[in-house]
Amino acid sequence: MAKFAFLPADFAPGDAKSAEFDPSQVEVTRIGSLDDPLFEFTYGRLWEQFGPAGELESRAVLGRRMAWDAAQPRAGFAMRYDLLLVRSGGEFVAARDHTAIADARGAVVHLSHLLVDPAWRRGGLAGWLRALPLQTARACLAAAGFPPGAPVTLVAEMEHPDGIDVARDIRLKAYERAGFRKVDPAVVHFHQPDFRSFAEIDASQPQLLPFQLILRRVGREADSYLTGGEVRTLVERLYHLYAQEFRPADMQAVWRQLDAYPAADAPVALLPPTA
Ligand SMILES: CC(C)(COP(=O)(O)OP(=O)(O)OC[C@H]1O[C@@H](n2cnc3c(N)ncnc32)[C@H](O)[C@@H]1OP(=O)(O)O)[C@@H](O)C(=O)NCCC(=O)NCCS
Repeated sequence: MAKFAFLPADFAPGDAKSAEFDPSQVEVTRIGSLDDPLFEFTYGRLWEQFGPAGELESRAVLGRRMAWDAAQPRAGFAMRYDLLLVRSGGEFVAARDHTAIADARGAVVHLSHLLVDPAWRRGGLAGWLRALPLQTARACLAAAGFPPGAPVTLVAEMEHPDGIDVARDIRLKAYERAGFRKVDPAVVHFHQPDFRSFAEIDASQPQLLPFQLILRRVGREADSYLTGGEVRTLVERLYHLYAQEFRPADMQAVWRQLDAYPAADAPVALLPPTA
């Protein structure tokens, strides 16, 4: 089983202060399958936080993701999903999950969920946890035989600020302080596919969900823009991830949106997430 270590070299630029948190207080465990004795414990905590809002995948979906083998690319992309539990003295401290999607040009890591127990918040642990997905990216590249130094980008899909939802504002602030940047939402209109049941989708028009893309381009965090071609490459990989579970017909509406994306060489601003 892959071992996860706490690696300060992987900190996001704004997370250097997390070095003050002593990570030897906690241990990280990768949950390997639905049969893992810690799966239900971890899933249950994530469900309490994200389930009621419809923001957590089913057990079956996560089970299939855990079974992916990055050495066996799926339609050209190596995929590795990590569900990680953080404990201290056997007690729940945090959980996070994410998926690396890689080819020879580099790895994108889709950040799904991060939950830190309230007692452990604002003490630096979150910065360490924001660095763990880099290990997933490297493991994915290595398993597939892709260049180990290929570029890595972490991507979170987050709701647009609405001035009402306080938790949303806190999330955006936390990622902003860490040094993540947002793809200019005035130029790139990103949507998730329709997450409703097949029956509901079939009985109506597709309902696409608008999100903004929050990035950390590892080693290139200070860049103030990226190109339209780079955005397209990122989004194609996210849609490749969704296409593992969604019906091709339901993916068509989001694939079509790429037609309206900026030209390959057009600069697209990277902005503070709360802007
Ligand atoms: C989002 C979350 C992981 C952040 O954890 P955290 O330990 O607070 O850590 P971070 O280092 O990321 O954030 C710290 C910064 O965010 C902001 N922040 C965090 N909590 C805040 C609060 N309650 N009020 C105001 N600002 C807050 C502050 O700027 C803070 O910096 P400071 O402590 O130096 O003032 C945690 O709040 C959480 O688990 N929330 C519930 C689940 C969730 O929303 N997950 C994220 C999306 S998947």
